[in-house]
Amino acid sequence: MRIGFIQYNVKSGDPEWNRGKTAEMLAATDADLVVLPELATSGYLFTSRQEAAGLAESLDDGPAVAVWRGIAADRNMHIVAGIAEKAGDNIYNSAVLVRPSGGIDVYRKTHLFHEEKLWFTPGDSGFNVFDVGGVRVGIMVCFDWIFPESCRTLALKGADIICHPANLVLPYCQDAMITRCLENRVFMITANRYGTERRAGKEHIFTGCSRIVGPFGQVLAEGPERGDCIEVVEIDHTEARNKALGEYNDLFKDRQIDLYELSGSAILSE
Ligand code: ACM
Repeated sequence: MRIGFIQYNVKSGDPEWNRGKTAEMLAATDADLVVLPELATSGYLFTSRQEAAGLAESLDDGPAVAVWRGIAADRNMHIVAGIAEKAGDNIYNSAVLVRPSGGIDVYRKTHLFHEEKLWFTPGDSGFNVFDVGGVRVGIMVCFDWIFPESCRTLALKGADIICHPANLVLPYCQDAMITRCLENRVFMITANRYGTERRAGKEHIFTGCSRIVGPFGQVLAEGPERGDCIEVVEIDHTEARNKALGEYNDLFKDRQIDLYELSGSAILSE
C-alpha cells in the first residue's frame, strides 16, 4: 500500500484558495491513502464563533468534500482531510475520509486545543477504525496525540495505520509519534501544515515536519519545517498486526488491565 501526506501553508479564511491548493497537490500525488492537514480549507485562527461557522461546511453537500470526492474517484485514492464541519448548530473540528466510491466517514476531534474550545463542539464520534481495502485505518486530529488513550484506543480497535491531520504549534508531537508507534505497533501519518497565521493580535507558528512513522518507530518520510511537500512511501500494513516483542512479550496481551486505573478520580478530586 502506498501511503502519504501533503504539507502546505493553509491560507487563513480563504477556502476557495485552499481547495484549489489541495486539488493541485492531490493531482500530483500517487498514493492509495493520503492525509492532508487539520482544518485544511478554513485555516486555524478565528476571531469569533460566527466567523468559524461561516468557514465551516456540511460534509454532505459542501464544496471541499465535493472536490475531494472528484479527485478520490479520478485517482482511485482514499483522502483523509481536516475540515471545519457544520452539523446543525454545531461546528466540529473534523477529519473526513473520502473514498473513491464517493462514500465518506468522519472523525470529530475529541480533545480541543486552546481557543478551539471557543469555536468548536468537542467531538462525539469516538475513535473508530475504518476498512480501506482490507487495511484498518484509524483517525485522530492534532492535539489528540498528547492523550495516549487516543492512539491506544485506535490500536486496540485494530488500526494498522493512524491518519493524523494536524496544525501543530508545540514542538513535541513529531518525536512523540515515534513512541506512539512503538508502544502500539502502528503506522502513523502526521500531516502538518507550516507557516504563520496572524489574526486580531493573535499569532500561531505551525511547525511543518510532517512525518510517516513505522510500527517500530522508524521515520519513513519527513517534510521540511517550512515548504510545500508531498511524500509517499510503500508499506506492508501487516507489520502492524503482530504485537509480539521478542519471545516472551506481547504489547497487547501483556497489558495488566485490572491494575490500570485510568479515571484519574484520585487526583482530579483533590
Ligand atoms: C492543535 O491541536 N491544532 C494544536
